[in-house]
Amino acid sequence: MSQTIVLKDGRLIDYAGDRIADVVIDTSSGMITEVGTGLAAETEIDCEGLVVSPGFVDLHVHLREPGLEAAETILTGSRAAARGGFTAVVAMPNTNPAMDSASVVEQVLAAGRQALCEISPSAAISIGRNGEQLSPMGELLGAGVRIFTDDGNGVQDARFMRRALEYAGGLPNGGSPVVLAQHCEVEALTEGGVMHEGEWSAKLGLGGQPSEAEDLMVMRDITLARLTGVHVHFQHLSTAGSVAMVRAAKAGGLPVTAEATPHHFTLTDASCAGFDPVFKVHPPLRTAHDVAAVRAGLADGTIDAIATDHAPHTPESKDRSFDDAPPGMLGLETAFALAYTELELPLTDLLALFTWRPAAIAGLSDHQGSALSPGRHANIAVIDLEHRWTVRGDNLASIARNTPFEGRQLNGRVRHTFYRGEQVLANFEVTR
Ligand code: DOR
Repeated sequence: MSQTIVLKDGRLIDYAGDRIADVVIDTSSGMITEVGTGLAAETEIDCEGLVVSPGFVDLHVHLREPGLEAAETILTGSRAAARGGFTAVVAMPNTNPAMDSASVVEQVLAAGRQALCEISPSAAISIGRNGEQLSPMGELLGAGVRIFTDDGNGVQDARFMRRALEYAGGLPNGGSPVVLAQHCEVEALTEGGVMHEGEWSAKLGLGGQPSEAEDLMVMRDITLARLTGVHVHFQHLSTAGSVAMVRAAKAGGLPVTAEATPHHFTLTDASCAGFDPVFKVHPPLRTAHDVAAVRAGLADGTIDAIATDHAPHTPESKDRSFDDAPPGMLGLETAFALAYTELELPLTDLLALFTWRPAAIAGLSDHQGSALSPGRHANIAVIDLEHRWTVRGDNLASIARNTPFEGRQLNGRVRHTFYRGEQVLANFEVTR
């Protein structure tokens, strides 16, 4: 086996700029050893016409391990990640048991050692994610957690959220601020709802979840970020109102960041017209007006990151009525192509949303945009912007099949992925 690989003549785009260069990877150390022109190595991969980017970072995935492995495992989810160009993913805590103790986090980290990307476990803010008792955050930080969230649900009680922020803000974390991420839904308003509340829910006779359920929690937590000075990260923003509030909060200098998912910038509530539960998700698909607002937020920097909310569900569980099926959709393998096909953003800005901006929020310094330089970990996505392809659920690496983009034609796809120097994706196929 060769020890060194050169990515030849690619267009390198990272935090430092956009230029044509070669990158030499030492597979035994997993590091980038040289960046420049006219470089050679034992193996050469022709990257002419391809974009060489830092590996992508997804702040929001559900890997279902432990407890729900019929839908996804850490290994299968990491294969989907590698195919999507992701070299690090933040795993959400709504597993069974929930990721609310150092022992469960250690179990996830141990399984992650066999994965095709870095698995960064989040941990719950509250024990059992039930909003009543704080999780042992200090111990969890020590175990390697970077982000706390009760995702799957938001923290409903304002006093509890205030205490969580105050407690987290006081924890020593090697100088980096602790991040509390919030799934913004006031359950008193969403109860009984299965899709966005509006014209379509009325037409279809399905229970609605109003935009205000998200807006209220975003408003509350912006207020709590001001009160406590502690960083709040808003997960999967979906409403025009919440994007506007985050924009204003940032303009006011508050410590807030936000992410948006590909499904919230590409699909509307009209997709639910056929009652297909593949379009059921929390927060729900909203109106064209909201989609436009999310896109504007991505374009002007209000939204810091594209995160997938990759949520695998078994075919049996999704094969129920719209009312009864669980919410969630696959996202890892289609995220970049959807963003590249649908968003009219300069390529550097688009890559920032997938790479150095989420990496900075999660404190994943091995995946920063400056990584394309000697001495950095070789976490790299090589993108073929010319590749046109059609999404087929049956061809995805995930165990689950619940993609809402079946049959959609997309432009751009990650051709090769390197994780710590190992080629985990070669010509669109995972290597193990
Ligand atoms: O649609 C969703 N599915 N939203 C969530 O917050 C949780 C996720 C899941 O775990 O399936």
